[in-house]
This record gives sequence, structure tokens and C-alpha cells, in this order.
Amino acid sequence: MPEELIAVLDFGGQYSHLITRRIRECEVYADLLPFTAKPQELMETNAKGIVLSGGPTSVYDDDAPKCDPGIFNLGVPVLGICYGLQVMVQMLGGHVKATKRHEYGKTKLEIRDDTDLFRGLGKQIVSWMSHGDYADTLPKGFDIIATSENCPTAAIRDRGRKLYGVQFHPEVSHTEHGNDIIRNFTTISNCQRNWTPHSIVESAVDGIKARVGNQHVLCAVSGGVDSTTAAVLVHKAVGSKLTCIFVNHGLLRQNEEERVFKMLTESLRMNVKYVNASTRFLQQLKGIRDPEEKRKVVGAEFIKVFEEECAKLGTFEWLAQGTLYPDVIESAGTGSPASRIKTHHNVGGVPEWSKFKIVEPLRTLYKDEVRQVAKELGLPDSIVHTHPFPGPGLAVRVIGEVTEDKLRVCRHASAIVEDELTKSGFYDKVWQAFAVVGDDMAVGVFGDHRQLGHLVTIRIVESSDGMTADWTRIPYDVLEVISNRITGEVKGVTWVTYAISSKPPSTIEPC
Ligand code: XMP
Repeated sequence: MPEELIAVLDFGGQYSHLITRRIRECEVYADLLPFTAKPQELMETNAKGIVLSGGPTSVYDDDAPKCDPGIFNLGVPVLGICYGLQVMVQMLGGHVKATKRHEYGKTKLEIRDDTDLFRGLGKQIVSWMSHGDYADTLPKGFDIIATSENCPTAAIRDRGRKLYGVQFHPEVSHTEHGNDIIRNFTTISNCQRNWTPHSIVESAVDGIKARVGNQHVLCAVSGGVDSTTAAVLVHKAVGSKLTCIFVNHGLLRQNEEERVFKMLTESLRMNVKYVNASTRFLQQLKGIRDPEEKRKVVGAEFIKVFEEECAKLGTFEWLAQGTLYPDVIESAGTGSPASRIKTHHNVGGVPEWSKFKIVEPLRTLYKDEVRQVAKELGLPDSIVHTHPFPGPGLAVRVIGEVTEDKLRVCRHASAIVEDELTKSGFYDKVWQAFAVVGDDMAVGVFGDHRQLGHLVTIRIVESSDGMTADWTRIPYDVLEVISNRITGEVKGVTWVTYAISSKPPSTIEPC
């Protein structure tokens, strides 16, 4: 853990993770904590600044969350954002009331004082607002540093106590200079700027060396950016004491097994045990149509294969996993409304069954930070920029029963989607892109006769963390080439459709 940080107290707002990420973009480590965090705890972690996040409630709701009042007496700068401003005002003796009109969307902000929080911003910016309450009476010691048409207290400050509040959302990209406001807060908090890919790698490697010492580590790698980066960090720390297991569950993408094995062994020079278990996975999946059941079967079979292989490989004290920060936060629970809709068993990472001690070198990192670390470690671009691929693989992209024929169609059509996106420059701009196949059939004309064939759906989405996603407005001519290639090259496909539903209410994967 870094020596100092900015603590973001989570009141359940949809942007809490975004605030944390924006602070980290200023090269300052930020940790998302429950709003109930105790002042003592914050001092022990050396919190140099505290941010109170937004939240879905009104301070007048019966169950409105409140932080510990001692937080305002620590002498540490505090920035309240939206609900965070309101809760601070109310707790310090001011008053909050409902606005006449909800302020939502882009709003002009008149800046009255640009000396500290708004340093370098000038007199007017566009801010992103989303609120129905505002502070109509400020606590003693506060003054107004910005206003908007419907909110006379759009930004407030108690300079002596270094308490700040903004009614708008500086973390959202629609707020002009939002990042500058967050950077100014890190300056006010006197933070060192040392959260860089280089320092992350150094401290991760030192941390692994200190914990693992001379003992042996096992790591399940899939070739995705998370497990590969985790393995490479461990490899840097313990060298040949690391053994990787790469299980082919028969649900991989086209040519994935050769590509990944070659990369792990030839480019990264790691010790890798390749296990081809595709037949047994497909056997276990026979007749299963329910998405959750499919996930459970793949997860359970993976554990069996993994345990069998471990037993053959010798004695290992440690298991390395590529667990990311959002997973750690979600399982700890900060009060955030983000909930898992599907069981995301991260293949290879089920601590209850393991006798191992766990090493998780990515547990403080967001996905984009993992990519930066991967780059810093010199991993190939194909890994750094690879799209996320779910643990249960194509089993969640084949709707209904997983059959060899549907896997063939899904694999081949997905390869075409990826190929055309790479050619047209869209691959790196989108979060995920793939083909889906189910049991729907549609008529096509082959030669001079009409025949039923598979209906394939293309799914291409943009997202920053997979929690929400929007379908990508791919140009028609790119879609046309993809469609023509799929019907022309993938045997038995007659129709191609494009999925135009966003998450929510849809999910990214179809099962
Ligand atoms: P959904 O489909 O829930 O997906 O919108 C959100 C993100 O999670 C990935 N995903 C999974 N990852 N095991 C995984 O390791 C799973 O069972 C699983 N289901 C979805 C999905 O690819 C997307 O990036």
C-alpha cells in the first residue's frame, strides 16, 4: 500500500469509482472506503485528503447516510461532491433544501474565487449537475466560491478549515476542467505525485518478494491482461519459483491456445503447464441451457482440473491471482449500489477451496491501471490492449446448449468481427466486440434453394469498467463488411444482426 492517500468515502453515488480513478490520474493514490470510516482509521492510513462522494439519497431521508463528524476536525482537507457537499453542510450546522427546479446536465458555473480549488480556471466553466437539493444556509466560516443559475451555492469553502464543497460533478468528463479541480484538491491536500506505473511495478515486486520469499507460487493464466500481468509481476519477483497453468477449456477464441502458449513461454519466458481439457468441459456442458448453470459447471470443472494438475506439479505454498480493485471493493462492500448481476467466478480464483496463501498483485488497481502496468512491464500490445474475455469463455456467448457446431460458428464469426475492427481502427476504441449464436435459425438462399441457417448477432460495446455499457455506433460500411464476411465465410450462417441495446437493462454478454 502507498504511504499516503486520498480517502474517498462512498455514499453510494454512481460516480464513486470515477472520483477515485480521477484522483489516481493525478498520480496520487486514492482508496474508496465506506462512508462509515472512522477518523482514527483514516489517520492510520495517512489520508492527506478526504472526498465525500455523491449519493442517491436526500439528507432528509430517514436512512440518509452520515459520516463520522470527527472527520471534519482532523485538520485534513475535505471535498464534498453533490450529496457530499450537502451532508457536510447539514452536519456542520447549515441548512439544505429542495431546489425549485432539479438541475440536471450541463450547467454554466460562474466562478467567484479562482485562487485555490478553482486555480487556473478563469471566470466561467461548464459543469455537470444532477441534484434536487441545495445548501440554502451555509455553516459558519463558509463562503461561496461559485454559483449557477439555479444553485447560489454551487461551490463553497471554509478556507481556514480547508473544507470544500461542489454541487456539480468534477469527476464527470462533461465538466470542463474537472480534472484540474481534482488536481487542485490534491495540491491543497499536499499529496506527493508518485502513483505512476513505474512505482506501482516497483512496489508490487518488492511486496511479493517480501511476502513470498523463497517459496513456490502457482498461477492460473488465461492470456488475458489481468492474469498475464499478475503472473509477470510474480515472475519478476520470484523467477523460476513461479509455475503457470494454462487450461484450455475448449471455450477459447480462434487460435487462442497456440497464441497464448507461445506468448507466455517464448516472449515472456515463463514456466507454463498447458492442459488441454476441452473434451471434459464440453462433456460436462452437454444438455445445459441455463446461463448460471453453465457458469457453475465451467467453474467447478476448472477447479477439478486445476487441483489435479497441482497435485502432479509438486508443492506450492502460494496461489497468485489477478483480482482487481473493483472486485476487492465490491466484496468488502462500501455501500456502493453496484451489484453483480451474474456470477463472475474468476476462473482460478476461488479462495475457499484452496489450501494456498493468496498473492494478489493487482488488488489495488483498476483495469486501465493494469494496462499501464502491463505496458510498463513491456508486455506486447496484443496483451496490453486485449479486450476482456470472460472466464467461462464462449459458453456465455453461445445461447442455450453449448454444442461443437455453435462453438464453431461463434468462434469463426467472432474472429471476423475482431479482424474487421482491427482493420478499421475500432478495436482499441471499444470495450468488447464479439459474435453471439443461439438456437434461432433464419432462412437464406444457397445456390437456388432456400435453407435454414444460424442467426448470428454482433455485439460491440463501449464501457469504462463493464458496469454500464453503450452499443457502439459502428459505421454501416464496417458492419456491412462484417456481415458479408460472416455469411460468406462461416458455414451455415444465413442472417447477421447487430445488438443495439445498452447496459442496463441488457448485459454485455448474452448469457
Ligand atoms: P455483463 O455480461 O455482466 O459483463 O454485462 C460485464 C463484464 O464482465 C464480463 N463477464 C464475466 N467475466 N466471468 C468473468 O470472468 C463471467 O462469468 C462473466 N460474465 C461477464 C463481461 O465479459 C464484461 O466485460
